[in-house]
Amino acid sequence: MLRKPVVLITGAGGEIGHGLICRLANDKDHPIITLDVRPLDQALGHLVQQEFIGSILDTHLLDRILVEYEVDLVFHLAALLSTRSEFAPMEAHLVNVNGTLNLLEFAQKQCESHGRSVTFLYPSSIAAYGLPDLETKARAGRVKENEWNDPATMYGCNKLYCEHLGRYYARHYKRLAVESRSGKVDFRGIRFPGLISAVTIPSGGTSDYAPEMIHAAAQGQPYACFVRPDTRIPFMAMPDGVDALMQLVTAPHEKLNHTVYNLGGFNPSAAEVRELVLAAFPGADITFKPDLKRQGIVDSWPADVDDHAARFDWGYSPRYDLQRAFAEYLFPTIKKYYSEK
Ligand code: SER
Repeated sequence: MLRKPVVLITGAGGEIGHGLICRLANDKDHPIITLDVRPLDQALGHLVQQEFIGSILDTHLLDRILVEYEVDLVFHLAALLSTRSEFAPMEAHLVNVNGTLNLLEFAQKQCESHGRSVTFLYPSSIAAYGLPDLETKARAGRVKENEWNDPATMYGCNKLYCEHLGRYYARHYKRLAVESRSGKVDFRGIRFPGLISAVTIPSGGTSDYAPEMIHAAAQGQPYACFVRPDTRIPFMAMPDGVDALMQLVTAPHEKLNHTVYNLGGFNPSAAEVRELVLAAFPGADITFKPDLKRQGIVDSWPADVDDHAARFDWGYSPRYDLQRAFAEYLFPTIKKYYSEK
């Protein structure tokens, strides 16, 4: 029996996976299989062909998927985010690095088995940057991909290293072998800013203060923000994040001058996010109670990123600026979401 061609999404139950499954499910040419340690929400489960419940560290399970399916496209989303990773750095390294290596090896085996290249989409992060202090952060402004690559978290180190692993598989894999095996895994990475979704809440990240503030207000709950009001990092509305992934998948290989691209959206301070939330939910109870340790992580991330390369090479063009993201996506969708719950 022939194996079936599919798209594989790891960490499919997470925030990006949620939006991505909904988007890909409209495309009947791309049946989806998923791999996650937890079962998917029922609504998502119905949209996928097969749901594997298990770990990206389970190489037997990955071999089973290789036996059953022809995978042409991988979205490797599974990861432990930055705050969680600081509590268990060894575990983070295992999941974020060894897990990614397993998936790259899986993609390479897929290529060798079906003879086509496998497009491998990898969400990296602003955590791949590390600014030493606030003065430098202010001076650095919009950082380019090759600047300030000195991550200050285990998660950031893991993401930066896995970008290199992806480049290695794409360009140099087993370079001393008699027959070259590189060039089969078509690795494409995006350094995402903080992502804000109207229908899911992140867990274990350090950019979580913005989405948490919005979702708390929408539910009428008080929220004490764990960073200072002047804290500034880039964010992006989830639909733009999902669009960007889909756009990068279809970009012609020869147009891509980088293996990893910055994406920006808008970069409000935490105080500005609060103002917008108060305008939409008058009377919301949002205070500031900075956690100095988590603050240190966000302070090491750039205030903004330069995403010219993505705009130039594959036409990245986000739909939502700050005002539109809140007015046209976040608030209407969140209000509807909680009123129907
Ligand atoms: N949102 C992520 C985090 O906070 C950053 O990529 O860990």
